[in-house]
Amino acid sequence: MSDASTIRTTAGYSFPRVRLRRLRRTESLRALVRETEISPQDLILPLFIREGTSVRNDIASMPGVRQQSVDLALSEIKTAWELGIRAILLFGIPDHKDEVGSQAYDEHGVVQVAVREIKDRLPEMIVITDVCLCEYTSHGHCGLIRDGDVQNDDSLELLARTALSHVRAGADIVAPSNMMDGTVLAIRELLDAEGFQHVPIMAYSAKYASCFYGPFREAAESAPAFGDRRSYQMDPANVREAIREVDMDVIEGADIVMVKPALAYLDVISKVKERFDLPVAAYNVSGEFAMVKAAAMNGWLDERRAVMEILTSIKRAGADMIISYHSLDVCRWLSG
Ligand code: PBG
Repeated sequence: MSDASTIRTTAGYSFPRVRLRRLRRTESLRALVRETEISPQDLILPLFIREGTSVRNDIASMPGVRQQSVDLALSEIKTAWELGIRAILLFGIPDHKDEVGSQAYDEHGVVQVAVREIKDRLPEMIVITDVCLCEYTSHGHCGLIRDGDVQNDDSLELLARTALSHVRAGADIVAPSNMMDGTVLAIRELLDAEGFQHVPIMAYSAKYASCFYGPFREAAESAPAFGDRRSYQMDPANVREAIREVDMDVIEGADIVMVKPALAYLDVISKVKERFDLPVAAYNVSGEFAMVKAAAMNGWLDERRAVMEILTSIKRAGADMIISYHSLDVCRWLSG
């Protein structure tokens, strides 16, 4: 990666001898010197899996994205595979929610059933599962509630059980997004104790309390019934704290760390990439997707160019992989 501090302009090698426009003259020249490129294997496709069969519900704030039952999702996953996508991220939407999110760790829960079906049909597709309780709890918070407060330590056991049930169903990677302290360690210990030492953890390490998750909460039906998530997700103003979050997750056993959202947090991606030597994921979240779609639908932005520019910027900032709702479109554009 280029680093501004290594680019020297030596006296005698300045204009008119140096002309940076020489290498921008044709598309072939530009391609030859291009530093960053997006390819299908960089992309992770997120999917909202609804319990049941033959269910397909459009999501108003995310045009082109749907909640769908696994039988219908399978054809989209097959298309993704054919387009070169090698990883998907699953979110489950159960029919029944309760105080303790019991469907999250039920062996026959929506995600567990979906993972089995997908791995059965497309064993090579990397199936990543989101490990959180908010889609499964009646109050919509990511952990257990006592006296109006999200309980950290008491939630860990349920979150670890959730991860274990996903892995038992065949998940290739688990991705805890709940932002409880100690969640990576709790999951690592339980997976190891149960013989799943080989299963990686993709930690949503620096996850901010962001308004850009708005459309997702409509899609996943996971808006908190009271309060907000600021007592566990990060303050958008902080970047040094992001380094501590990542550091903690690395020590606890994370294999991949994530920054989320992506576009308004490119500085965070860049700092995390500089400081840590493990793969960095970035989540191009629902609100970022919705903004581009809305502008494109109004004719205010060229959708294809906007999406490619945003994803290239996220990769240029340091992301090794990008979770994006635009993934299928991008692969279609790349294949001409
Ligand atoms: C679950 C979770 C959320 C997202 C991913 N996992 C929502 C939230 O924290 O409120 C957001 C993804 C998106 O906006 O695309 N905790």
